Amino acid sequence: MSDPVALEALLTEDRRFAPPEGFASRAFVADPAIYDEAEDFEEFWARWAEKLHWFRRWDRVLEWTPPYAKWFVGGRLNVCYNCVDRHLDGPGKDRTALIWEGETGERRELTYRDLGAEAGRFANVLKDLGVRKGDRVAIYMPMIPETVYAMLACARIGAVHSVVFGGFSPDSLADRINDARAEVLITADGGYRRGRVVPLKRNADEAVQRCPSIRHVVVVARGGLDLHRDFTMVQGRDHWYHELASRVSDRCPPEEMDAEDLLYILYTSGTTGKPKGVVHTTGGYLTQVHATTRTVFDLRDDDVYWCTADVGWVTGHSYIVYGPLSAGATVVIYEGAPDWPDKGRFWKICEDLGVTIFYTAPTAIRAFMQWGDRWPGAYDLGRLRLLGTVGEPINPEAWMWYHRVIGGARCPIVDTWWQTETGAIMITPLPGVTHTRPGSACRAFPGIQAALLSEAGDPVDAGYLAITRPWPSMLRTIYGDDERYRETYWSKWDGVYFPGDGAKRDDDGYLWILGRVDDVLNVAGHRIGTMEVESALVEHSAVAEAAVVGKAHPVKGQAIAAFVTLMQGMDGSDALADELRAHVARAIGPIARPEDILFTADLPKTRSGKIMRRLLGDIAAGRALGDTTTLADPAVVQELKEGYEAREE
Ligand code: WT7
Repeated sequence: MSDPVALEALLTEDRRFAPPEGFASRAFVADPAIYDEAEDFEEFWARWAEKLHWFRRWDRVLEWTPPYAKWFVGGRLNVCYNCVDRHLDGPGKDRTALIWEGETGERRELTYRDLGAEAGRFANVLKDLGVRKGDRVAIYMPMIPETVYAMLACARIGAVHSVVFGGFSPDSLADRINDARAEVLITADGGYRRGRVVPLKRNADEAVQRCPSIRHVVVVARGGLDLHRDFTMVQGRDHWYHELASRVSDRCPPEEMDAEDLLYILYTSGTTGKPKGVVHTTGGYLTQVHATTRTVFDLRDDDVYWCTADVGWVTGHSYIVYGPLSAGATVVIYEGAPDWPDKGRFWKICEDLGVTIFYTAPTAIRAFMQWGDRWPGAYDLGRLRLLGTVGEPINPEAWMWYHRVIGGARCPIVDTWWQTETGAIMITPLPGVTHTRPGSACRAFPGIQAALLSEAGDPVDAGYLAITRPWPSMLRTIYGDDERYRETYWSKWDGVYFPGDGAKRDDDGYLWILGRVDDVLNVAGHRIGTMEVESALVEHSAVAEAAVVGKAHPVKGQAIAAFVTLMQGMDGSDALADELRAHVARAIGPIARPEDILFTADLPKTRSGKIMRRLLGDIAAGRALGDTTTLADPAVVQELKEGYEAREE
């Protein structure tokens, strides 16, 4: 969990911010009665589902056989139809759907009508390649409009997409393709990040070598990359998207999907070395992302909405693509880094495009803070009216800075807690209703029931966060692994969901999320399993054993610290430490690169041989050692601690 200093700051935080007058009076939700009205949660969610387009209405709202839920049983709908076609009847058709800005400065704008044509065209390309309802399609792309077309195209024909973050390594991509047995991979020649080209197709080629299920690779030309095409197109397997697209129509009838048909798989880290394929389905998922987009972001027709996440994470799925588009919003997509060509890039985009709603992560906010007020100060941020944060606990200091410097002390801030598994926002303020407190995600969204429980399942004021009844956008299982689904999320208490977070409740009844209680790290808002990094390390020929823990980091929230024992005869040098960092970055992706590597002759273990990560965490944080009496050899820890501290000096 968070370090004690940060925790102390949270517990003494007592500032409260009422919804700004002008905001509350126009807000989509301005009446706190919504919480009571949602007590009949099935009826509440059914009312939201009614706002979507259904080919066939559902027979039953919920069928709950713990831990398996079915929502809107018997209902039929299409997610792409709801995100595009539905807006084409009225004035919505000429409304801007996407405004894309490349890192290199080019811009593209599409209306809903344009978006419909592009999604239809991409859908026909996939169909021509033999993709059918239920087939899995992997998407490994930069942040360009075609990524959105590809996702919508899959949804249109009922194919299941698995988007893999473009920053992941070829090995990580291959593992995800193989687990889902994807038949088609959609990628691009490359994309821009901090002025450099990310060689996506080259990575994809390396991955696909060990993916027997892949029949076709569709390659989108990012544009402006002509000098970087240092790969070959494999005859019969690889196709340029623009060549296929020139041969098909842009009209493709939407597949009528069952409410419980799969919409997508998204891989996320857990407590083992193998990422989990989180499964989301159609009707319930769309209902909750739609409802939360409308109410939490107070989205209206004239808003310009920007969520800075990458589409490779769940935030991109739910709050760049499906939520905002189902609400008919104007969505900004930016390809590159926030500090390129300088640290004012985000604020320049806000000014240039007139962004009104801005959603980002605490790690980014802390970086902006560190870069200094002069960067946002140089731009007009006066159109902003609502700010959001997600991904990790936000420290009150960063919240206050966001409020004051970015929000001009006039924008409500929504601190939204949720997960890949929950699919949509679960704990959050409602901006027209809730008095916010810096650092608190406040309370469960209407219709959602959260509790704080002890290990034994008793209600407590500080303990494990728990979700005590099913919700429409919940994961349905882990792809191909029902056992792991039951074990990971539903085995701690009977019929109650365990998210893996600790939390406390304050005098107002608000929830304060304290961080993960399992072996999952949150590094700059990216979820990384300690076991994944450990397995990457031990794959290196010099490494005998490795233990990985998180340590508090002023910008990233957490950074990775690795304790490594080497094979007999190997010497721990700075050069080897650098090599191991590079090795992990190659194996998983640069986000998993350890910050600290400490070579040690031994690791602290219990008598049963379990590595005591808690103690390693204490050492990495420079804290006094916790209880060492259960250790097989307490001296090991003391030596480690001294070694670590010597190295920090
Ligand atoms: C974990 C989920 C939800 C999209 C991004 C991350 C942490 C998320 C908050 C918040 C405190 C938060 C939790 C959670 N988290 N939002 N507002 N306050 N912690 O999705 O990769 O599935 O990670 O992120 O620890 O379990 P994810």
